[in-house]
Amino acid sequence: MSLKIEINKCLQGYNTLALAARAAYFCCVSDHQQIQDALAFAQSKSLAVIPLGAGSNVVLASDVDGLVIYLDLRGVTVKDAVDTAEDSVDVTFQAGEDWHEMVSYSLAQGWYGLENLSLIPGNMGAAAIQNIGAYGVELSDILISLKVVDIESGQLLTLTTEECQFSYRNSVFKQSLKDKCIITEVTLRLSTKPVINLEYPALTHYFDDQLAVPTPSMVSEAVCNIRRSKLPDPNELPNVGSFFKNPVISAVSFKSLERQFEANDVKVPGYVQSGGAVKVPAGWLVEQCQFKGVRQGSAGVHKDQALVLVNYNDSMTGDCGKDILGLAADIQRMVAAKFCIDLDIEPRIYGSL
Ligand code: EPU
Repeated sequence: MSLKIEINKCLQGYNTLALAARAAYFCCVSDHQQIQDALAFAQSKSLAVIPLGAGSNVVLASDVDGLVIYLDLRGVTVKDAVDTAEDSVDVTFQAGEDWHEMVSYSLAQGWYGLENLSLIPGNMGAAAIQNIGAYGVELSDILISLKVVDIESGQLLTLTTEECQFSYRNSVFKQSLKDKCIITEVTLRLSTKPVINLEYPALTHYFDDQLAVPTPSMVSEAVCNIRRSKLPDPNELPNVGSFFKNPVISAVSFKSLERQFEANDVKVPGYVQSGGAVKVPAGWLVEQCQFKGVRQGSAGVHKDQALVLVNYNDSMTGDCGKDILGLAADIQRMVAAKFCIDLDIEPRIYGSL
């Protein structure tokens, strides 16, 4: 077997929170045969299989039992020739390709549609699990199919967008297919004509003074600038981006929230969804509970963006995963007490508390 299996492997370099948890078994796979070999190894030892991409959306609460499979599948292929009728092109990205590198690569090829998703940390495969979204665009808007390997049978299967059951930060991979498959590639339908989407308030505002319609490259640059101004770079201050999902509450609950704050002349931010429910920014709720900039042990709430928890301890010592989850639990308790809103943790938690 050409596959190298490592034992008791430190995962600190494999997750953007820089948590120094260990994997009982670890391997890196760069082709389909290696995936099959890894699955056979796991089966022979009755090990749980934990697929890992860039580790930008995981919290390693403790050492991880089982076999961590680091997905290093690479490559980009253009599936169909440009469909002139549709002005689009179907591009297949292997799961281990870096998301932002592929956004830049696509822009350089004249394939558009990914600009608003610039600078999101993580790999192409993992993007589908939580249906990444930012600045008015979600992966589900552009994904047409993906391939997975079924962990139990080793079979390669194709899933359509419908079968992925995408919704806000959610998919079938967080529900019925959780822990059941490994995403190996995603196929996106990109446009060969610029598609400019400046709907998101921060982007609209960015181009306020601009008379001409910006180019896709300008939109990508704007998104990078906005993100850099708000979100800490995981390479400088370990984090997993948004730690909580933005809760969606009923119109009635939102009204009573507004009433709760109108006495203090505070405007509650909220985005009405189709169907009338309202999405409330979790960052605002956390900030209202005075958590912005708070530090507990090695964990902290970022000083400029209350939705992001950071790990101040990038040494190999301490219980940083537990500190992060302890702080998250305190925030959830406080938000529930003050607003009667339950905040859901967005990244996947591995290991036990
Ligand atoms: N806000 C606060 N305090 C904070 C943070 C935000 O009051 O500490 C308020 C802002 O003033 C604004 C509102 O919350 O009125 C929304 O803020 P922002 O536009 O920055 O977006 P967000 O809701 O904080 C979401 C995504 C981000 C994505 C941005 C842009 C979620 C959980 N997060 O953040 O995604 O980049 O919108 O589209 O949906 C990620 O998933 O890791 C991520 C960074």
